[in-house]
Amino acid sequence: MNEKPLPLVLVTHTLPPAWLESLQGRCLQIVGPEDATFLAPELEANLAEAEGLFTLLTIRVSDELLDKMPRLRVVSNMAVGVDNIDLAACTRRGIPVGNTPGVLTEGTADLTMALLLAAGRGLATSSQDARQGRWKTWRPAGWLGADLNGATLGIIGMGKIGQAVAQRARGFGMKIIYTDTIPRPNVPADRVSLDELLAGSDFVSLHVPLLAETRGLINEAALRKMKPGAYLINAARGPIVDTPALVRALREGWIAGCGLDVTDPEPLPPDHALYSFPNCLIVPHIGSATWNTRRRMAELACDNLLAGLAGRPLPNCVNPEVQK
Ligand code: DGY
Repeated sequence: MNEKPLPLVLVTHTLPPAWLESLQGRCLQIVGPEDATFLAPELEANLAEAEGLFTLLTIRVSDELLDKMPRLRVVSNMAVGVDNIDLAACTRRGIPVGNTPGVLTEGTADLTMALLLAAGRGLATSSQDARQGRWKTWRPAGWLGADLNGATLGIIGMGKIGQAVAQRARGFGMKIIYTDTIPRPNVPADRVSLDELLAGSDFVSLHVPLLAETRGLINEAALRKMKPGAYLINAARGPIVDTPALVRALREGWIAGCGLDVTDPEPLPPDHALYSFPNCLIVPHIGSATWNTRRRMAELACDNLLAGLAGRPLPNCVNPEVQK
C-alpha cells in the first residue's frame, strides 16, 4: 500500500531544533536562515508545493505571496501579533492563520516594567557614566529620576498584557488608569478617555495591537498632551507611535523620555535620530525574549501548524470563520 507523502512546510527561519520537535516525522521542512529578513531563495523556489507556512513577524505574508502558494492550507505565525499577515487575503482563500497568545503575556509585561524602570531612572545613561569614568562621587543632585510609587500609569489597551503590566505596577504603588475599546470590570482601574489618560499619566504604556485604528495613535497631538515629565513606553508595535513626532517631542522636551522595545522602522538603522537622545532607551524587540517564552511560542506555533495540516481547528486561530 502506498503511504501518503508528508506535507511540505516552509519554516521561514532556523530555530533551535528542540523547539520544533513536534514537527519531526509529520511534515517535510524547508528552513530559511536564522536572521532572514525576507523569504530565502530556497523557500521561494518551493512556494508552489508548500502546504504549510511557519513564519515570524518579520516576514510579510501578502496577497501576492499567497497567490504563489496554491496548495497552502495553514499559516502559523510564531507571535501573538499578526500585523505582518494579510488576514483578509488568507480568509478569502479559506486558509486558517494561527498565532501564539497567552504564553508571552508575563514575559512581555516583565520587559515593560523593565523599560519603565530603566527609562524613569535613567539606567542606561547612568550605567554608561559609571563605566566611562564620570562617577566621581556620590552626587546628591546627580542621576535623578522619577518615582514609581504614587505615580500614575496610563495603559492604552487593557488586554492580557495590559492587565499583567497593571498587576505588576500596582505592586510598585502606582495608580492605574486605562483606555480600551471595551470596559474591563474586573480590573481595579479607572477607564478614561485617551485625552484624560495622556494628560493625567506620569507613564504611558502601549498595549494595543497594530490595526488601521491604532497606527499613528501616538502622534504629535497626543505627545503634546502628555505631561512634560512623563515617559512613553512602547512594547507593542512601532507604528502605533508616529516616529518623526516622537523625535520632535524628545528634541523639544514635550516629554521626559521613552522606553521602546519596538520602533518604526524596525530594525531602527544605527544612524537614526532616536539614538541621539540619551533619554530614549531602545531595545531590539525583546519583549518575549526569555528561553521559556520563546520555546512555548514555537511549540504553540507547531501545534497550530500541525492542526491545520491535519484539517483540524487550530488551537489558536485569528480567523476562526474559515474553520466553520
Ligand atoms: C508578538 O508575539 O507579537 C511579539 O511582538 C513578539 O515578541
